[in-house]
Amino acid sequence: MAEQPKAKYRADYKAPEYTITDIALDFDLQDTATRVVAVSKVKRLAEQDAALQLDGDALTLIRVEVNGESWSDYEETATGLSLTKLPAEFELTIETEINPEANTLLEGLYKSGGGFCTQCEAEGFRRITYYLDRPDVLARFTTKVTADKASYPYLLSNGNRIAEGELENGRHWVQWQDPFPKPSYLFALVAGDFDVLRDKFTTCTGRDVELEIFVDKGNLDRADYAMTSLKNSMKWDEERFGLEYDLDIYMIVAVDFFNMGAMENKGLNIFNSKFVLANSKTATDTDYQGIEAVIGHEYFHNWTGNRVTCRDWFQLSLKEGLTVFRDQEFSSDLGSRAVNRINNVRVVRGPQFAEDRGPMSHPIRPDKVIEMNNFYTLTVYEKGSEVIRMMHTLLGEQNFQAGMKLYFERHDGTAATCDDFVQAMEDASGIDLTRFRRWYSQAGTPVVSVTTDYDAEQKRYHVTVKQRTAPTAEQEEKQALHIPLDIELYDEQGNVIELQRNGEAVHHVLDVTEEEQVFVFDNVASKPVISLLREFSAPVVLEYDYSDEELVFLMVHARNEFARWDAGQMLLAKYIRDNVTNVQQGKAVEFPASVVDAFRGALLAEDLDPAFIAEMLTLPSENEIAGWYKQVDVDAINKVVGDIKAILAAEMEDELTAIYHSLAQPSYTIEHEAMAKRALRNRCLSYLACTEQGNALVEAQYQASDNMTDTMAAMAAANSSELACREAQMKDFSDKWTHDGLVMDKWFALQGANPAENALAVVRETMNHPAFDLKNPNRTRNLVANFCGNNPVRFHAKDGSGYAFLTEILTALNSSNPQVASRLIEPFLKYRQYDEARQTLMRAELEKLAALENLAKDLFEKVQKALGQ
Ligand code: TRP
Ligand code: ZN
Repeated sequence: MAEQPKAKYRADYKAPEYTITDIALDFDLQDTATRVVAVSKVKRLAEQDAALQLDGDALTLIRVEVNGESWSDYEETATGLSLTKLPAEFELTIETEINPEANTLLEGLYKSGGGFCTQCEAEGFRRITYYLDRPDVLARFTTKVTADKASYPYLLSNGNRIAEGELENGRHWVQWQDPFPKPSYLFALVAGDFDVLRDKFTTCTGRDVELEIFVDKGNLDRADYAMTSLKNSMKWDEERFGLEYDLDIYMIVAVDFFNMGAMENKGLNIFNSKFVLANSKTATDTDYQGIEAVIGHEYFHNWTGNRVTCRDWFQLSLKEGLTVFRDQEFSSDLGSRAVNRINNVRVVRGPQFAEDRGPMSHPIRPDKVIEMNNFYTLTVYEKGSEVIRMMHTLLGEQNFQAGMKLYFERHDGTAATCDDFVQAMEDASGIDLTRFRRWYSQAGTPVVSVTTDYDAEQKRYHVTVKQRTAPTAEQEEKQALHIPLDIELYDEQGNVIELQRNGEAVHHVLDVTEEEQVFVFDNVASKPVISLLREFSAPVVLEYDYSDEELVFLMVHARNEFARWDAGQMLLAKYIRDNVTNVQQGKAVEFPASVVDAFRGALLAEDLDPAFIAEMLTLPSENEIAGWYKQVDVDAINKVVGDIKAILAAEMEDELTAIYHSLAQPSYTIEHEAMAKRALRNRCLSYLACTEQGNALVEAQYQASDNMTDTMAAMAAANSSELACREAQMKDFSDKWTHDGLVMDKWFALQGANPAENALAVVRETMNHPAFDLKNPNRTRNLVANFCGNNPVRFHAKDGSGYAFLTEILTALNSSNPQVASRLIEPFLKYRQYDEARQTLMRAELEKLAALENLAKDLFEKVQKALGQ
């Protein structure tokens, strides 16, 4: 290998030696040779002889001038440009040339479809011009864009349009000015031909904001839900957080080639088209929910991320954890809070906990980074949101909002740290968060073990709580954390027992701060049933020895829906674990009638939201189950899940059938109630697919469906139950949608998750489908990542064929798009959790990757950690 990439450490943060207060950019757009002239006002902050080190990557330097004079005191280095002998304040002119068409990394300026677009977070601006490409340098941007008018009628950048003009050679130009100083990662430019959906929003102070959504020509009939979601976001942020939008225009552009979900560039969000485009024919209810969440997320960044940004990238969770919290609250306030909570918790308990156990384990505020793109993780985002949520639980809504207000008073217009945020929360509430801050520095998942003891004579209930966090990669020592533990006690009738100690009421959220603590409650008349970790009040693994009877009791009597769902999950977990052992010992899967009855009760509960019942009846994923084991037996887990599903289907067939038919709707709407009914009806279908009538029912639904939710539910059921109708459906769907990559992604996902024995062969063949393109991250994620990450039995085939396939793909993507490669490699990072034969095979693949001559930083960091070097 060439030079080994170097790590950066959080502890090494230094304030910048120079800053840039203003920058005027001038783009002359050409497919393979775009010219960029950047004129910056530079100010020295450090002592006299400091060199100005500008970041740069994949740039051709054309000229350098200082105060309008050609400058020769500079040097091109491996990572940028180093200028010396500079005055204290000056105007710096740099002209560079870049090649957008050759930019397959999708970072910096690149071409997507026929248009130009940019992606600058985290460190992509340095692929446009030499710059102080760090978030604590905030400048006012003016951007002039020139391009061919026929091909690129729309020329967009951040802020307000201040001038435009025509040129003789068929070219035209537009100039934009963003009044808010911002770091370079929030810069954006778009040029292309679009259909535009226009609307407006009047803010709480009566200002009119132009709203514009740009989509590829012909897609106007798929932009309405994004627009509705945007207006809902703007209104919600005013009402719940008191935050008003600050520019006169808000633009969203949907592009097909995009590495992640979307990007919050000031006034000009750029979105993966997956999170904009939807209508009943092309999008499922889940897609609609994703659009609402991501539109909200990017909009909420305008205050949490843009107005207050991050001092350095180690602080990423400052904006991401907080903004995920805000988008989760938005979706919960507009839709079902319980269903949202359940789905968010599934992500934390599944993939986030898995990240904690692996070689890339890191705190929500990482200490050491080689490639920043590798730290846009479930830990930073989802666990980061849980940490904000815990503060919300500890402080309550009112104090939390007071903390937000103080945070903006102190830090608006600046780059802040995670600690600044906690300090504002602490100062506004008067609540001590000293120990709580450890959540920012400690990696790993705490295990909270609870035991209880009822003293009938004293009428006292003792709750003993112990916490421990296992060592994680690169962090051996663990300390006790401040864990908010939300509990409730019930008597035999299901009445809530008020928590009391020494005659005083005790709050239902216990402050667990020590390794071991005992909480005593008085006046408990009879032995209670305890509901623990209500609302998943902390991102921990709970251990408590519930009996089946207690869990069934909680499924019925717990006061909040989340706790009822969680009791159901714990009951399932018990039987899944027992049966994995049974299967490993060659015994049959056993699932008692009493447990089936508990789920039958949930299915038939008429007072419950159908969307919630659908969640009650959803088994944990094979990946989540894998996380319960030191050594994973993919085949046994797959068999147990399949058998339990079949048993539930057989035992409840009458009820499932009746409910399936009763929930049919005369017409399609996307109201919450209609979605909820579809969710439960399609959950019933997924069970009924395991019964005799499965094929007929699934086929009938596919034929009758007038919307993508029901179509996909039928196809997913046919796929996972390997029904006879699968092949015909797959062909019909592909014939119908081959021209539409976004819709075909659903089809690719089914090929990836295909349980059939020849799944890998089919996946390989599918890569030749006209709609497939390895360079498009959405296509690759749906087909390849889904096969490798969500089809454990086929990916982990004993002959190692799945592993060889992943290495082939990673090798190709290592040069074309390492950011996508780096997400795809995740299944390999868990190799230590498999049996020796599989471990050996996966390790060999990792070693092959390590030996690649041009191994990108992204993969280097993960491969090196996985191999334990
Ligand atoms: N900041 C973006 C968000 O969370 C995500 C993001 C970071 C991103 N890096 C990216 C998006 C690279 C696309 C490409 O909303
Ligand atoms: Zn974000």
